[in-house]
Amino acid sequence: MTANPTTSLRAPARTLVAQARPVPQDFVLGVATAAYQIEGARHVDGRTDSIWDTFAHTPGAVVHGDTGDVACEHYTRYAADVALMQSLGMQSYRFSTSWARVCPDGGPLNAKGLDFYERLVDSLVEAGIAPWLTLYHWDLPQALEDRGGWTSRETVDRFVDYSLAVHDRLADRVRTWTTLNEPFCSAFLGYTAGMHAPGRTSPAAGLAAAHHLMLAHGRVVQELRVRDASLELGLTLNFTVADPVDPSDPRDVDAARRVDGQMNRIFLDPVFRGSYPVDLLEDVRHLGLEDHIMDGDLAVISTPIDVLGVNYYNGEAVGHERPGSALDDALNGGRRTRSPFPAADSAFRHPRGLPVTAMDWEIQPEGLTRLLVRLHEEYAGPAAVALHVTENGAAFDDVADEEGFVDDRCRTAYVRAHLGAVLDAVDAGVPVRGYFYWSLLDNFEWAWGYAKRFGIVRVDYDTQVRTPKASALDYARIIATRQLLP
Ligand code: NOJ
Repeated sequence: MTANPTTSLRAPARTLVAQARPVPQDFVLGVATAAYQIEGARHVDGRTDSIWDTFAHTPGAVVHGDTGDVACEHYTRYAADVALMQSLGMQSYRFSTSWARVCPDGGPLNAKGLDFYERLVDSLVEAGIAPWLTLYHWDLPQALEDRGGWTSRETVDRFVDYSLAVHDRLADRVRTWTTLNEPFCSAFLGYTAGMHAPGRTSPAAGLAAAHHLMLAHGRVVQELRVRDASLELGLTLNFTVADPVDPSDPRDVDAARRVDGQMNRIFLDPVFRGSYPVDLLEDVRHLGLEDHIMDGDLAVISTPIDVLGVNYYNGEAVGHERPGSALDDALNGGRRTRSPFPAADSAFRHPRGLPVTAMDWEIQPEGLTRLLVRLHEEYAGPAAVALHVTENGAAFDDVADEEGFVDDRCRTAYVRAHLGAVLDAVDAGVPVRGYFYWSLLDNFEWAWGYAKRFGIVRVDYDTQVRTPKASALDYARIIATRQLLP
């Protein structure tokens, strides 16, 4: 079966049984993507390079030397992709706009770049799919990186200019706007671990980037709020659930605290409490974070938001001793790089014998329930902020049959289990409003290139034919019936 939107879906592998669990009617189910991972069209209609173009074209940076030059050709195939989502019953689509397409080199507006997103948004609205727009999914214009990138405060001003340009064209049709996707990765995989663009390897630079990213987030929320008080505004963070290997060993407890501090609380506390965690400031004191914090910055960063996007893939058992594989090995794409954690070089991930995905990430759905309950109790709840799972998904070693169909039972089970974990949190009283599977399509998985497939729709990169996998059909059935099978 190909991407023909008129193609009827194959019958789901299983039929409804007694223990099916209802999905609340107002709970939104959708899929997510990001510009660089799917669009291609590198230099089309005025787009210039982002840091990911430069990085991907650097020999040895990405597995097999893959780049996003062509990717899924979504730039020209967007209409068919929207029709495909409509045929699967998607209620919402989370995508990102490319800064270097809208404002080439981070400079003045390129109307043709915005035209593309207008066409996309119009197609979504026409198809009855609610657009959810992310302004920054890691693709900083290279020209801005050349002037210091996210380590420079000037980048914050350029981000505001770009965001307002996108807003002014699309805000009448897009209700939900998130500023950043996973600033942890932008800052620490990009500027500290060197495993993502721009490939820098400085703990101090990672912290400077993290602060400026969050300042950019706060500035844009302020500006958009002034323009239109009715928009739903927020950001998406990626979280881990760090459990100490031995809860009775203070050294393991401390290792888990550091990982939690440098991955979760470093972003949550400024947004929801207007301050950096005291223990984190202590851990990174020698790295100059406080030199970048100007008067008023934390008030800007803590500007009230409406939605917190939660990206969850896995948790981890963290210990103070090296079990044979360090945290940086586990996070690495193609290359061995340094730890992304500025001051947690002595924290190590310990395998727990759980099943893993093709990324070697543990499959641990109950971690998602615990995470959502914690976020609600400690942060979002007191601020009356709704939670959405903006990403959750899995890469597996898919095998396609002669028709290109993938019977990916592992992915189907993964989605069911994690959606069930979200419903467990809802049952526990956490206001989770939606779930976006990552990703609609197989796509450019950053340092792993095309070697890892997360899609519920297979992409044949030779022909660009899209073929819904068994997991897509199961997800479509869940959306259509509002029933989750165990
Ligand atoms: C998080 C990122 O937002 C997305 O771009 C990436 O492909 C997935 N996780 C899977 O690694």
